[in-house]
Amino acid sequence: MVPKIDILTLFPEMFEGFLNTSIIKRALDNKLVEINIHNFREYSLDKHKKVDDYPYGGGAGMVLMCEPIFNAIETLRRDNTKVIMLTPSGKTFNQKMALEFSKLEHIILLCGHYEGFDERIKTIVDMEVSIGDYVLTGGEIPAMAIVDSLTRLIPGVISSESLVNESWNDNIVDYPNYTRPEEFRGMKVPEVLLSGHHKNISEFRDFERKRLTEKSNMMNLEEVDNEK
Ligand code: 6GU
Repeated sequence: MVPKIDILTLFPEMFEGFLNTSIIKRALDNKLVEINIHNFREYSLDKHKKVDDYPYGGGAGMVLMCEPIFNAIETLRRDNTKVIMLTPSGKTFNQKMALEFSKLEHIILLCGHYEGFDERIKTIVDMEVSIGDYVLTGGEIPAMAIVDSLTRLIPGVISSESLVNESWNDNIVDYPNYTRPEEFRGMKVPEVLLSGHHKNISEFRDFERKRLTEKSNMMNLEEVDNEK
């Protein structure tokens, strides 16, 4: 089973660099994932290919209309499809969701823009997802973040050793890495890493992972405190 991802967007050109670079490009070339970009403007039945309109009740900006998006999703959807709407008010994305998504047969990612979606579009999606508590101009960067994180978890995309120790598996961050030179501007590589003593190296890395996880959690807590 090759996971298939359909991305619905008004700005397909934003995905060009993303799909043609590094690990994602290699995964596509090796047919480990299939990714298709669709401009949902093409699903508008309007003669001017209109996709948005003024909000009922007034207010700022434009709202994405139901029809093109319903048409696009109904055309692309199959039996085993998960339709995900990218919206700042959705469920916050995390590593556990990335792993779950990497096992799905078919995902449709719906990218909004402007003031957002007609509320009724929520009736045709399975899930609403955000990538964090800040506002972006559209769902394209969130779609890339989600596709990137799930693609690297598809078996064969990167080496399995690279996946075991990395940050946010089991809510723990990765251990710190060092490479040559042994000393840079007075900063030395920890002695134990040069020792060749595997047990001590393993203990050092476990200790550092715990220390850096606590530090990361503290930084996030401080932010909450500042908001009070
Ligand atoms: Cl999914 N969309 C937009 N527009 N902004 C966001 C987001 C999504 N997640 C975080 N900020």
